[in-house]
Amino acid sequence: MSAVYTSERFVGIDFGTTNSAIAVAETDGSVRVSTFESGGVLTEVLRSVLFFEADPDARSGVIVTAGLAAIEASLAGNEGRLLQSIKSFLPSPSMDKTAIFGRVFSYEELVARFLKELRRQAEVTLGPLGRRAVVGRPVVFVKDGEDGREELALTRLRTAYAAAGFTEVDFQYEPVAAALEFARGRDDVSTVLVGDFGGGTSDFCVMRLGGHRREVISTSGVPVAGDTFDGRIVRAVVAPELGLGSYYQSFDKRLEVPSALYWNVERWHHLAFMRDRETLHVLRKIEASAEHPERLRTFIRLIQNNLGFALYRAVDRAKVALSVGSEAALDFVDDDVSIRRTVKRADFERWIGDDLLRIGAGIDDALSRAGLTEAQVDEVVLTGGSSFVPAVREVFTRRFGTERLRRAAEFTSIAHGLALDARARAVSEARG
Ligand SMILES: Nc1ncnc2c1ncn2[C@@H]1O[C@H](COP(=O)(O)OP(=O)(O)OP(=O)(O)O)[C@@H](O)[C@H]1O
Ligand SMILES: [Mg+2]
Repeated sequence: MSAVYTSERFVGIDFGTTNSAIAVAETDGSVRVSTFESGGVLTEVLRSVLFFEADPDARSGVIVTAGLAAIEASLAGNEGRLLQSIKSFLPSPSMDKTAIFGRVFSYEELVARFLKELRRQAEVTLGPLGRRAVVGRPVVFVKDGEDGREELALTRLRTAYAAAGFTEVDFQYEPVAAALEFARGRDDVSTVLVGDFGGGTSDFCVMRLGGHRREVISTSGVPVAGDTFDGRIVRAVVAPELGLGSYYQSFDKRLEVPSALYWNVERWHHLAFMRDRETLHVLRKIEASAEHPERLRTFIRLIQNNLGFALYRAVDRAKVALSVGSEAALDFVDDDVSIRRTVKRADFERWIGDDLLRIGAGIDDALSRAGLTEAQVDEVVLTGGSSFVPAVREVFTRRFGTERLRRAAEFTSIAHGLALDARARAVSEARG
């Protein structure tokens, strides 16, 4: 027996790598997107971060906050762990649990914590959300669909949503949701290519849309997006300040500092897991005979003082500024760490060159699966925060020109479309 909507409101949830949003469609077809309030700031998304602080008074021993409140607590220097881009770990079997202040959390529990908080805060503006929702998923969680990982990601999502009270969820591809929002209220049928560029993944779909038609012709995706771009800036600008590319002496050999040590710094979400003794031990050993020991010391301080997120903010700000200017300041100054550089957009575009090629290949894949040429696409819709990057838009203008390009609300189109999808599913169920 298929589930029945218990209320006449239809819930769409976009749990994103960087930002999350919830929307509700009412029976009359109107859609409301939730707002989130923190310290007087109102936003339509909740930042997908969690901050764990030790609290001996709390029953569990820890206090957990989400969104801007979590970021503020972390930047205020409160002792704790900030977890971000948790969605990226969905297909990683090795990320099954982590100990925080002596308490072991399963990975699903971490995701559930965030979803519970997302729900709680959204219900302040939207009212009770019930137990059923259409929830987004990227087209591709992991490249080459390695054994069982897609299933692992979906099972984990389902478990976490259930723990947050959403016991009946239907998955929908995120770019398909954006297309549904885009086509809303349109009578003319057109062939639409959607590109959704988020923090963790870039996803595509080709659809025939308009009137009552909502046919998915093809989908594709690549796990390359905003987090990858940040990582390129770190590798090119920040890592050399932390010793990448410099040398140290090991017995009678002059060796380059292993570049693998910088892998975690490029992937912010890993940095919170990096405060392990072994890494620090290796870094201290290298520092002792390094040609630029001060760089290794900066690296050690970064890890010890838990400055990963503060550094990430500085890098992300520079990246965002490069979407409008031809150069931007990357300023990261803390008590005893100082990294100041000017970043040029032309350099940034060179650093993300391979990523742009992979994005181009994603578009080609979507078109070839659809059996269509570029000329046969009527409209191209771009959404997601990383679609602000001029070089990403250029990948499309080069192929399709500017005439056919459209934008959908960068941070809320997916949640909006998911809510519309929930309503459409309920209507078709009611018709039997
Ligand atoms: N103006 C901008 N210029 C460049 N990048 C931006 C801009 N604004 C936001 N971003 C980037 O967009 C990303 C977040 O976009 P979005 O909220 O659509 O992602 P998400 O939905 O959380 O991720 P995903 O869909 O991959 O799970 C971040 O990497 C952020 O740095
Ligand atoms: Mg998204």
